[in-house]
Amino acid sequence: MTQVSISHLNKIYPGATAKAVDDLNLEIESGELYALLGPSGCGKTTTMKMIAGLLEPTSGDVLFNGVSQNPIPPEKRGAVMVFQNYLLFPYMSVGENVGFGLKMRGVDKETIQKKVAEMLELVQLPGVEDRRPKQLSGGQQQRIALARALIVQPNVLLLDEPLSNLDAHLRDEMRELIRSIQKDTQITMLFVTHDQEEAVILADKIALMFDGVLHQNDTPNKFYEQPATEQIARFFGGLNFLPGKLDGGQFDSSIGRFSVPQGVINSGEALMSIRPESIEMGAADGAANIAKGRIISHVYMGTHSRYKVMVKGELFQVVADPQSIRHFKEGDEVNLRFAPEKVWALPK
Ligand SMILES: Nc1ncnc2c1ncn2[C@@H]1O[C@H](COP(=O)(O)OP(=O)(O)OP(=O)(O)O)[C@@H](O)[C@H]1O
Ligand SMILES: [Mg+2]
Repeated sequence: MTQVSISHLNKIYPGATAKAVDDLNLEIESGELYALLGPSGCGKTTTMKMIAGLLEPTSGDVLFNGVSQNPIPPEKRGAVMVFQNYLLFPYMSVGENVGFGLKMRGVDKETIQKKVAEMLELVQLPGVEDRRPKQLSGGQQQRIALARALIVQPNVLLLDEPLSNLDAHLRDEMRELIRSIQKDTQITMLFVTHDQEEAVILADKIALMFDGVLHQNDTPNKFYEQPATEQIARFFGGLNFLPGKLDGGQFDSSIGRFSVPQGVINSGEALMSIRPESIEMGAADGAANIAKGRIISHVYMGTHSRYKVMVKGELFQVVADPQSIRHFKEGDEVNLRFAPEKVWALPK
């Protein structure tokens, strides 16, 4: 059982002007599955390498169960990292790759063979022991890298985008596999991804980074329901941000006055945000918190329909159920309802 604390962690690469990681603080509880999320280049791999001990921090510390890991070499930390480009040993067979960590620990040959077979079974590639890594597909190699990490039963497992080379179907299966392994073994796991959907499906908690800085650290639903900034809301698929002025839960804008009882702020210049799927289209005239607009486009997506609705020069994007195309068409006038429990005030 290992609890991981990241304390004022900084990394400036030699010759770089900007910090790759900027004063990062994070607590990962023992047995927790955490996602480290953010766009390409935001510092995810850099953070992970510092936790594993493969990269020296410029300043700050990583602690396992309260003990500073700065002086401890990577092989003594009990943390194993699976790399973005998985780095299998090309001249070893798949079986030797998977069993490598046990061989280093002096485990006998027979036990290694048995464990390797178990691990290959687990990642759904039984019987490939004698092949070379290059005789497997990219996605299969990723699963071998996962097996190689799991075989040593690490206290902390660090996965750097381990599913990026898998097709959608296999990725779903591997997510479930990772989730179930994590729940069964109670390994503390940090999972890097730039895909918000993947983070939400897998993780107990998500740490979202932009440009080396941690912006929000929360349970997945909070990123949808209570984002801290417009940038975060946009990263999670938020599209509607209406500028205006907020005073005691009342929001005044160019398209009308609305009740906005919740948010990051409660007065002053603000943005009323509402997710596309939270807007109710077609509310009756006279209902509260509505605005009248005109449908300017719609797209049928099979599982849902997407609309663009112009309200006095402000564009709103609405996601509705697929059948709604029977009731609404381009050019129609409609009321949009911004339910008070679904709007969220953000700083402008
Ligand atoms: N060895 C290095 N030397 C100098 N700069 C580096 C080095 N490695 C990474 N960087 C820079 O540090 C920043 C963070 O890189 P990092 O690899 O941590 O990003 P990432 O979030 O993992 O991105 P991705 O999703 O593309 O893998 C980037 O601006 C990158 O260009
Ligand atoms: Mg990376």
